[in-house]
Amino acid sequence: MLFDFIRTNFVKTLLTNKDNMDKFIIEGGNKLKGRVHISGAKNGALALMPATILAPGTYHQKNTPNLRDVWTMSRLLSSMGIFCELNENDLFIDSSGISSFEAPYDHVKKMRASFYVLGPLVARFGEARVSLPGGCAWGPRPVDLHLKGLEKLGAEVTLEGGYVQAKAKRLIGAKIHLDVSSVGATGNILMAATLAEGSTLISNAALEPEITALARMLVKMGAKINGIGTNLLEIEGVGELHPVDEENIPDRIEAATFLIAAAMTKGTVELENVNPYHLTSVLTKLEETGCKLDVNGNNILLEMEDEPLPVDLTTAVYPGIPTDIQAQWLAYMLLANGTIKITDNIYQDRFKHVPELQRLGASIEIIENIAIVNGAKRLSGATVMSSDLRASASLILAGLVTEGKTEVLRIYHIDRGYENIESKLTKLGASIHRVKTELF
Ligand code: EPZ
Repeated sequence: MLFDFIRTNFVKTLLTNKDNMDKFIIEGGNKLKGRVHISGAKNGALALMPATILAPGTYHQKNTPNLRDVWTMSRLLSSMGIFCELNENDLFIDSSGISSFEAPYDHVKKMRASFYVLGPLVARFGEARVSLPGGCAWGPRPVDLHLKGLEKLGAEVTLEGGYVQAKAKRLIGAKIHLDVSSVGATGNILMAATLAEGSTLISNAALEPEITALARMLVKMGAKINGIGTNLLEIEGVGELHPVDEENIPDRIEAATFLIAAAMTKGTVELENVNPYHLTSVLTKLEETGCKLDVNGNNILLEMEDEPLPVDLTTAVYPGIPTDIQAQWLAYMLLANGTIKITDNIYQDRFKHVPELQRLGASIEIIENIAIVNGAKRLSGATVMSSDLRASASLILAGLVTEGKTEVLRIYHIDRGYENIESKLTKLGASIHRVKTELF
């Protein structure tokens, strides 16, 4: 009796503190058909939310995806005294009551983007204590460019007990060149520079649409920024900013994931609420594989009748092919007749999905940051394990075209970045079910 009580509660505690162990059961073979509404961008929301630290007041952020990473960022901001409420896809934030300038390890360890609060905190309050994010499923992801940028702006940055401590009476504008056009470093430095004294120049800045959207919101808040949409951002610091309402951009990675799912199942699917311009490189690649695409305003219709043609892929910074669709593309190329090369130039070791796809019967070889796919092998259902967000997306896509049942474990990874993925896929005709974790 006592033992059962301890066992159940220990497991419950573990699960509550950690992630639930839900899984998906997928029956392959159905063609996807119909319309799907694309959510707001996860990486867009994760850039707009920390910006509310820069000016006290209320913010309404529309088209915010209702998913785990947004909840994690909300919990982090709430732990600082910021009011956050997500009502379906409307996020309401009140940053007037900030009482702490610390981002604890417990939050940051769950999500690297938590590190994006560093710049705004130092800029507004002259101090911040933010946990270092540590590594992730696919290797080291340093933040040296974030720290170098803040030091260039005059912040005193020290590392103590796994935390970054940054202090500055007032940041001073500076010229900052990014060795790598890092999305996160650009966002952190850009936000910090808006309240710095004098002007800042960020060269080799990231061009990702999420950064352009952040810069646009900062301008609405009163910031002075030139060169938006280019990799040379010039920011004239101002004394203060003011809160604004903003509409988040559509999620280009979710859109690409659904387009690839449609192509893999030889389906006919129309995406609503997308920005086709953000997907130019991806749409070009899809057409090379033989997909028929019809772009109409904020809708994209994809039709696919045959097996895809073999098309190599090399990831790059925007407007190149995003690394966040590399895993999904690899799953797609499992169906192509031929040998396909998939090179990830952003993350050297982002191939945790490969051993799992091999469990389904795929033939893939990894040489450093290149995956060599020998396509058109018969795939048969098995149990596979998610290791990170986009890897789990590739396993789900593979499950849609695999004979028999595929069980995808640890889908808490997918819940981090896709809103209601199984109901959206089911509406398109997929056979996918979530199996909730049963406690003893
Ligand atoms: C953003 O991560 C995205 N996350 C990632 O999406 C995406 O994969 C990545 O950009 C690249 O496009 C969010 O927007 C929340 P980076 P971020 O700084 O900002 C190196 C997903 O699946 N680097 O642009 O962390 C780094 O190691 C996620 O939605 C340094 O060397 O990426 C990497 O090789 C996963 N030093 C490259 O730059 C630094 O200080 C790009 O990283 C920072 C980065």
